[in-house]
Amino acid sequence: MTVSTRKPAGNASAHTASSQPTSSKDRVLIFDTTLRDGEQCPGATMTFEEKLEIAEMLDAMGVDIIEAGFPIASDGDFEAVSEIARRSKRATIAGLARAISGDIARAGEAVRHAPRPRIHTFVSTSPIHLEHQMRKNQEQVLEIITATVTQARNLVEDVEWSAMDATRTPIDYLCRTVEAAIRAGATTINLPDTVGYATPDEYRTMFKAVRERVPNADKAIFSVHCHNDLGLAVANSLAGIEGGARQVECTLNGIGERAGNAALEEVVMALRVRGDVLPYDTGIDATMLMRASKAVSTACSFPVQYNKAIVGRNAFAHESGIHQDGMLKNNTTYEIMTPASVGVTKTSLVMGKHSGRAAFRSKLKDMGYDLGDNQMEDAFTRFKALADRKKHVYDEDIEALVDENIATAHDRIKLESLTVIAGTRGPQRATMKLDVEGRHVTEEVEGNGPIDAIFKAIKTIVPHEVTLELYDVHAVTEGTDAQAEVSVRLSRDGSSVTGRGADPDTLVASAKAYLAALNKLIARGARLHAQAAE
Ligand code: KIV
Ligand code: ZN
Repeated sequence: MTVSTRKPAGNASAHTASSQPTSSKDRVLIFDTTLRDGEQCPGATMTFEEKLEIAEMLDAMGVDIIEAGFPIASDGDFEAVSEIARRSKRATIAGLARAISGDIARAGEAVRHAPRPRIHTFVSTSPIHLEHQMRKNQEQVLEIITATVTQARNLVEDVEWSAMDATRTPIDYLCRTVEAAIRAGATTINLPDTVGYATPDEYRTMFKAVRERVPNADKAIFSVHCHNDLGLAVANSLAGIEGGARQVECTLNGIGERAGNAALEEVVMALRVRGDVLPYDTGIDATMLMRASKAVSTACSFPVQYNKAIVGRNAFAHESGIHQDGMLKNNTTYEIMTPASVGVTKTSLVMGKHSGRAAFRSKLKDMGYDLGDNQMEDAFTRFKALADRKKHVYDEDIEALVDENIATAHDRIKLESLTVIAGTRGPQRATMKLDVEGRHVTEEVEGNGPIDAIFKAIKTIVPHEVTLELYDVHAVTEGTDAQAEVSVRLSRDGSSVTGRGADPDTLVASAKAYLAALNKLIARGARLHAQAAE
């Protein structure tokens, strides 16, 4: 990679209070567009409250500019942008506007309560867009740029102008549009790869050329905005920075139109981890990345792919024996950043058929087992046989391999009888009798639905604090008399167990499954307690 030594256009360090440089490295501004371009991702619509929550998180995380929405698009968007503007603390709040007077006025109105308001206006510049979409010639577009940027600049001091489809625009004309926008008062110039077509080298060269050829280029900060149609969005963003851009437009989890935008977490961590060849700082508190990723994934119901860089659930998980062995000796063998640096609690050594002895021994140690060599060898052989048959090997599977007591743990609390009143006329009620280590206890409990009543009855008889992570029912056979099989996953203090129960009555199967899981948790707690006392 070639690193540009030329000073950036504009002054990114002076942009906001939160953007003071933290080192001698050049400062790159992070412009998050999760709430605008991200929300344009099919199916990613977020509610008003979810947008406020995410904006608050982005602000706390140190994002320099939050593009909060497209105010003209709907009243809901306008309200969200206005409220985010009102509540913003550190970040600049931007509202998007087409090169249309009504859009710009609406965007100006939406952001006006922000301590740092920005209007972001854009127009297409490529021949394809001019001919087929806008039906305007190049001179007409230049006039539009001057008029609309001037209008925006009369409303706010901070105006960003984007040349939509910049990467498919001839460089001579692109330079003329940029010069016109800066002359009319644009303080940030964004050159998007709207259709995700550019390669890193082309994108870097485009920025260099524009900055060298446009006479007033030093009066604006240049910005990258990359789409991921060829999977190059992050690589292109980094190349744009090398070409002199000092603002990166990106989204959490890389959500956005079509294949998405450059992922914020990847850009930030690439700059941090490879500071040796990419000497640029951001103001992002990277330890908030995982939390923010989860919030976005939940809000737009978009799962994060397992192998997603930085925030995927496998990003810090190791299953192969060689890797687990290396990790146990020194985590730098297979990790280029610590999980803690991005807000992930810890590395996980996933137990599976590729795991080796070293990882298995370490896992047993973490679980409180200290086995002799023969016992260990015996358990390892049984573990390998199990892992060949089973996709997920959970902690309790390993416990069952080494601890006979676990297999009989379900005897501690037994279901004696259960009667449930359910139906449309609530409240639903469960009358349950349990055998708790020889004591017979009966309780009648109301719940919000029959399952809730059953689980509450168990909690009343055997008080305990757990999180219900999963409740899953499926029929083992076909027909209305099918045997129901229920799985319940409970967790406490970071460790979790699954219990299963089967019965022709789904409610009874549910009670059995919950009790099976609870018995396992109790047995595990007792074992760890006894070990600690030794
Ligand atoms: O991809 C794009 O060109 C855009 C503009 C509105 C900046 O999202
Ligand atoms: Zn875009």
